[in-house]
Amino acid sequence: MSPITTIDKVGDYVGQAVTLRGWLYNKRSSGKIQFLQVRDGTGVIQCVAVKSEVGDEVFAACDALTQECSLIVEGVVRRDERAKGGYELSVLRVERVGTSTDYPITLKEHGVDFLLDHRHLWIRTPRQRAILKVRAEVMRAMADFLDGDGFTRVDPPVLTPSSCEGTTELFHTQYFDEDAYLTQSGQMYLEAAAMALGKVYSMGPAFRAERSKTRRHLIEFWMIEPEMAFYTHEDNVRLQEAFVSHVVRHVLTTCENELATIGRDIAKLERIEPPFPRLSYDEAIAWLQRHGHDIRWGDDFGAPHETELAAQFDRPVFIERYPTQIKAFYMQPDPERPEVVLCADLLAPEGYGEIIGGSQRIHDYDLMRQRFEEHRLPMDTYGWYLDLRKYGSVPHAGFGIGLERTVAWICGLEHVREAIPFPRMLYRLYP
Ligand code: 4AD
Ligand code: MG
Repeated sequence: MSPITTIDKVGDYVGQAVTLRGWLYNKRSSGKIQFLQVRDGTGVIQCVAVKSEVGDEVFAACDALTQECSLIVEGVVRRDERAKGGYELSVLRVERVGTSTDYPITLKEHGVDFLLDHRHLWIRTPRQRAILKVRAEVMRAMADFLDGDGFTRVDPPVLTPSSCEGTTELFHTQYFDEDAYLTQSGQMYLEAAAMALGKVYSMGPAFRAERSKTRRHLIEFWMIEPEMAFYTHEDNVRLQEAFVSHVVRHVLTTCENELATIGRDIAKLERIEPPFPRLSYDEAIAWLQRHGHDIRWGDDFGAPHETELAAQFDRPVFIERYPTQIKAFYMQPDPERPEVVLCADLLAPEGYGEIIGGSQRIHDYDLMRQRFEEHRLPMDTYGWYLDLRKYGSVPHAGFGIGLERTVAWICGLEHVREAIPFPRMLYRLYP
């Protein structure tokens, strides 16, 4: 038998016979010639079987192949300028591995609910495969950047006794005789880990029972959370712009084919480099007011506000120093203006909204204790977090970046649901 290879590597075998293993994506045929589109996870290649060359038996075997059946095909690799990947296979032999009849996803257009109900099969299509590939490269780029910059990966728990970002969106579960919640953010644990290891990050799922049905919200999403001891707000923001730019550059170099399959305008991504523009919350409010929005100082931004603010720029924009009252209890007040906190949200261009939330954290024991009282946080579940301010506390900062929103932006997707293999959304837990 000829060497087994994958579609992305056939270029190494021009003029030679190879064996490919995959699935039938599509097929065209006339009475004398069959064009099989075979995919194997690394790409798609056209395999051509000419009746007069392969003989009746092989031709009949090709004819019997149906959409999404699995197969092994042996053939000679030919360079072909017109072919999508640049190569074609002249079939010598095919073997069907698994049958497939009445495959539900045909090549015509389907409604999104139908596709989501068949997500387990939808992910086989070239566009969905390309998005999942980009997602994997985004994660690789994030980990590479942080690993190369002195960070240690730390994994916070998923089951927690308390909340991080607010109590209304918690998923409750039972932990034997105690109440427990699925994590919303590993931040508090990462703050503890930063005091042990200096610079740390986590990469994992976060859960929010948000009753929002928007193109930016998932119930289960993935977050990457760096946390750095001795970092100020300024250090934090600089790290974020270098980090995001690195991720975009990595995807541009490693996912050229995938971005083309998705139809992404890469010129928009090529502009992403530091420094990113910054607006203060005050400036953002004033700008929105000048542009006809009914919004007051102290209000939070909605999706339309974020979209319009970001539309002024060709790269992501930081909105800094939000009012203390609308942000999380742990954020460090600006020493010159305690009514605002040393935080920044990063808004992606092209209407993708907030992809990062970050801040400098309160490191003073008395102030943190005061916040606990103001927010009525129970000492039995949060006491340990106060300890971090009691034993060798230092200024520190960190951020959380939403993986699906980042992937949706980089791929130019309409909705975050395509940026995760099996989306959990409001009223959708299947498949
Ligand atoms: O702004 P958030 O809520 O920040 C935190 O959780 C901090 N504790 C992170 C930290 O400082 N370590 O969430 C961070 C990011 C958002 O900017 C967004 O990209 C994403 O997580 N995110 C969501 N993505 C999809 N669906 C949802 N429901 C999301 N909620 C937040
Ligand atoms: Mg946020």
